[in-house]
Amino acid sequence: MDTPFPFGFPAPTAFYLVLFVVTLIVHVVLMNYVLAGTAVLAVSGLRGGLARPNPLAGILGDWLPFALSGAITAAIAPLLFVQILYRQPFYTANLLLFNRWMAMLPVLIVGFYLLYVLKAPRFEGRWPRTAAALGAAVCFLFAAWSWTENSLLTLAGDQWAGFYQAERIVHWEPALLPRLGMWIFGALPTMALVCLLQIANSNRGNRNLETRYGPDAVTGTVRLLAWLALAGLAAAVACGLIYAAVGDLAVRSALTGPLGRWYLLLGLVGAAAQFALWWGLVRDPTPRRLAPLTLATLATIAGMTVFREAVRLHALDLQASLQPYFDQHAVAAGRGGFVAFLVFAALNVGLASLCVWIVRTGRRQQVSN
Ligand code: HEM
Repeated sequence: MDTPFPFGFPAPTAFYLVLFVVTLIVHVVLMNYVLAGTAVLAVSGLRGGLARPNPLAGILGDWLPFALSGAITAAIAPLLFVQILYRQPFYTANLLLFNRWMAMLPVLIVGFYLLYVLKAPRFEGRWPRTAAALGAAVCFLFAAWSWTENSLLTLAGDQWAGFYQAERIVHWEPALLPRLGMWIFGALPTMALVCLLQIANSNRGNRNLETRYGPDAVTGTVRLLAWLALAGLAAAVACGLIYAAVGDLAVRSALTGPLGRWYLLLGLVGAAAQFALWWGLVRDPTPRRLAPLTLATLATIAGMTVFREAVRLHALDLQASLQPYFDQHAVAAGRGGFVAFLVFAALNVGLASLCVWIVRTGRRQQVSN
């Protein structure tokens, strides 16, 4: 614990930790788009923003079902790695929360179908769209809450027996709301960036949003996205400060110890750069030169995802020696299957890219016809 993540761990542990964090980052990007996208549509619907077509509702409506399937598919890899990494705490938390935890499946199915209702011409009109967006947003907020609750229960090894005896189905602790708040508000800048990239991309192609909605509508959307990102960043930072204040010894150890503090710094530098770049877009809402903003956003997500892992490693280290975990990782690494993993990972990335390419070329032909 006295070297930066993942150095200082035995090779198999470091290997699984890196794979877990990298694959989790992909889940986080797509999940952020879904979480913030549906919330923004729901609020916009309540304020009358879905009554007529507009660029943001158009982009989100079109892409949310794809983003959700991407978020869920991309979640499988970290789900596998988290089970290898933290076998006992992960399964114990799942079993203790069992019914409450399994409720996520039907809820996500409902959310999925509501995203299709949202884009179906049959349900055009302000209130059907608003109801669908609101319902979907509630479903995905429930999923986010469930994951945060589960992650915190995983770390609370001293509470498992009492939780089981009391037959509880909900885990509550003061850190829950600020941690969940960080995820929910932190989703806004990611969603805003992806929408901005989509707008910039559509301006280059023949599906020009400016032709469809008019230049003023697009400029207004870019400015709105910048404001949403700024508000989300500020709220996420505020939640982060509360989380640090109410967090236990593991959070404080991650804040000060070498394992996570450089990654926290990376996340904060990324967030500061985002503040400056989003502010620039408020003043000049032209979606150009987005590479620095993309880098800053990825730095924030990567830094915070690793820091989150540092908190867990400190929590487990405080409870007992990590040696049994290291032994399990060494056994798992000795089982083989890495080549098969790489082949299937490449196959899936290829197939997902093919789907995007087919949809993009199909839409282009549709527009030019
Ligand atoms: C739209 C639906 C979803 C949302 C909004 C969502 C949200 C989240 C959030 C907020 C976290 C971080 C929790 C925390 O650290 O406090 C998380 C972690 C995670 N999610 Fe998702 N999630 C969704 C769907 C899924 C699905 C369907 C799966 C599995 C197939 C999944 C797998 C994971 C995994 C493995 C982690 C890391 C867990 C850990 O480290 O303990 N997620 N998710």
